[in-house]
Amino acid sequence: MKKLSILPDLAITEISLGATGRGDPAQDAAHFAVIDRYRELGGNCLDTARKYAEGRSDEALGRYLKSRGCRGEVILCTKGCHPADTAAMHISRLSPAEIREDLELSLKALGVEYTDLHLLHRDNPRIPVEEIMPALDALVREGKVRAIGCSNWTVGRIQEANDFARANGLTPFSVCQLHFSLALTTPAQTRDVTHVTMNDIEFGWYKETGFPVMGFGSQGRGYFARLASGAPMKPGPRQYYDFIPENRRRAQRLQTLSGDLGVSLASVALAYVRDNALRASALCGFSSVEQLEDAFQALTFRLTPEQIAYLETGR
Ligand SMILES: NC(=O)c1ccc[n+]([C@@H]2O[C@H](COP(=O)([O-])OP(=O)(O)OC[C@H]3O[C@@H](n4cnc5c(N)ncnc54)[C@H](OP(=O)(O)O)[C@@H]3O)[C@@H](O)[C@H]2O)c1
Repeated sequence: MKKLSILPDLAITEISLGATGRGDPAQDAAHFAVIDRYRELGGNCLDTARKYAEGRSDEALGRYLKSRGCRGEVILCTKGCHPADTAAMHISRLSPAEIREDLELSLKALGVEYTDLHLLHRDNPRIPVEEIMPALDALVREGKVRAIGCSNWTVGRIQEANDFARANGLTPFSVCQLHFSLALTTPAQTRDVTHVTMNDIEFGWYKETGFPVMGFGSQGRGYFARLASGAPMKPGPRQYYDFIPENRRRAQRLQTLSGDLGVSLASVALAYVRDNALRASALCGFSSVEQLEDAFQALTFRLTPEQIAYLETGR
């Protein structure tokens, strides 16, 4: 699988895996089977966060790493500093002490000495980058983190943070994780004011700068599959996507193109993120090995710019 360079000596595959699970040890076998298959098919990047299952996702991934003895073979992407309450941005957790505490809790739960990528899960633009970047830089200098990044930060804040870091000899952000999908949504639809979703301004900056993106939501959290099969829509994807009329048109075009190409709908949705004009890794989630294999038909083709334009506009 092709890789996306984050640092000169650090590259993630162009499909990364939400290795999140629900953290229940009884579910480890099914969860680990998905991670095993992902790695067999060439994937190297496993994503988790302190917030997921309130720390139990980190613990489950720690059990996986220990049972497979594969720490040196994977790129770990951890995230910390999720606000206590996403409806109220002022409850953000971005102080230097909180930045350090969340990382150290993740390292302990994962049973590792360092993480490859460590991202701030959300932002609070009221907190100056002058307070945040030195705290992250210290973790890099201590060898606990190889590269730092952010998630749900606007491109303006990333630029501001990196301008400050570079002017002061500190480590800059090297990657951002955000919702980037054929299925459109906005923070108003997700009802989370700390979300930053891909829009024209964000897209233009990533395209111009080549700044690496980990785009989540490629399967629209199951939205496309459920529309196509007629299965009942779960409340999550319904709220995120179904009230935006353009998404039903996109779903129809996704079905048409996947039919024309003779590949699965899930694989074309994944390829939309991977093959777009950005330097992107499609960050995916799968409930089963069967879902993963269905989406990984994307390894057999690449979408052209014309096919991507068709999915977006119908032309
Ligand atoms: N930084 C952030 O704020 C943030 C936010 C969200 C997610 N993430 C990361 O991104 C990862 C992916 O999350 P996502 O929810 O955005 O992922 P997604 O890939 O859009 O959706 C995953 C869901 O889509 C369905 N699905 C996947 N493959 C399918 C297939 N082949 N056929 C039919 N249905 C399929 C499954 O749901 P069902 O089984 O229910 O149908 C699966 O759980 C997460 O695990 C997490 O690591 C990060």
